[in-house]
Amino acid sequence: MSNQPRVLVTRLIPEVGLQRVRQQCEVTLWSEDMPAPYERLLDLVKGMDGLLCTLTERIDAGLMDAAGQQLKVISQMAVGYDNIDVAAARTRGIPIGNTPGVLTDATADIAMALLLAVSRRIVESVDYIRTGQWQTWQPTALLGTDLAGATLGLIGLGRIGKAVARRARGFDLRLIAYSPHCPPEEAHALGVELVELDYLLSEADYVSIHTPLNERTRHLINRKTLAQMKPSAILINTARGGVVDQHALYEALQAGKLRGAGLDVTDPEPIPLDDPLLGLPNIVILPHIGSASQRTRDRMAMMAADNLIAGVTGQPLPTQVN
Ligand code: DGY
Repeated sequence: MSNQPRVLVTRLIPEVGLQRVRQQCEVTLWSEDMPAPYERLLDLVKGMDGLLCTLTERIDAGLMDAAGQQLKVISQMAVGYDNIDVAAARTRGIPIGNTPGVLTDATADIAMALLLAVSRRIVESVDYIRTGQWQTWQPTALLGTDLAGATLGLIGLGRIGKAVARRARGFDLRLIAYSPHCPPEEAHALGVELVELDYLLSEADYVSIHTPLNERTRHLINRKTLAQMKPSAILINTARGGVVDQHALYEALQAGKLRGAGLDVTDPEPIPLDDPLLGLPNIVILPHIGSASQRTRDRMAMMAADNLIAGVTGQPLPTQVN
């Protein structure tokens, strides 16, 4: 039997990360396409020194206890970690690692892609051709809304919000943000005006969400806050599905109280095929691909590997959440 630390890797992650882990640890890998059922994870995690997981696994107190007292680290291959019970980890003295920074640009790119796709009706236009509706160039067909001169409201001006702001400046958008913890000089340096949420909602032509999911942000976008937005506005969410009350979003889109929406994240994921949102023409929904570029996922895997290895060898994690 090897005397290397034993670790559970809950999904097939990019090879560069896996190799790094294998050099120093004895790895149990769940390599199926679908995530392991919770009950199966309870079995697999028994006796592990480290856990490398992703946002598809629920990492709660029960799972930590099933692992046993030797569990030294939970390394999440994602920047968001709302699937992990942080308080339970803290009580048990287990550090949690995440992967901030490396996915900022890729995620900001997807926010911009959604902004352009919805405002310029890209997916509808593709369908227009595919369904044989394109008969001629028409002066009044498929008209969208402009970015230049419009106002983009960023909810959250952390790493990803700032990266979106940098991109949006190139599109000549006016930028406002609600971000209670952002130092005003940082916002100012990016040409962003910090405002209250009420003002942002009523003023923005485009609203883009860049906040983590927690008790304060769950359903931050709900029937009431949607009603504060302009009927001509477009909502973009690349953060977490739970920040938006999707039922209220459907009602607003259906009733013409909101022009459109672009979602890279939904609640639940995957969005059920019979969800009425999927039947609307004025929404673009992506399968949570914000960080899905090869380079970004490789970097996330390596960072998660480094956090895992640091944790099982008793070193401070390079990027620790708690
Ligand atoms: C994250 O890292 O939190 C993203 O949602 C997935 O890359």
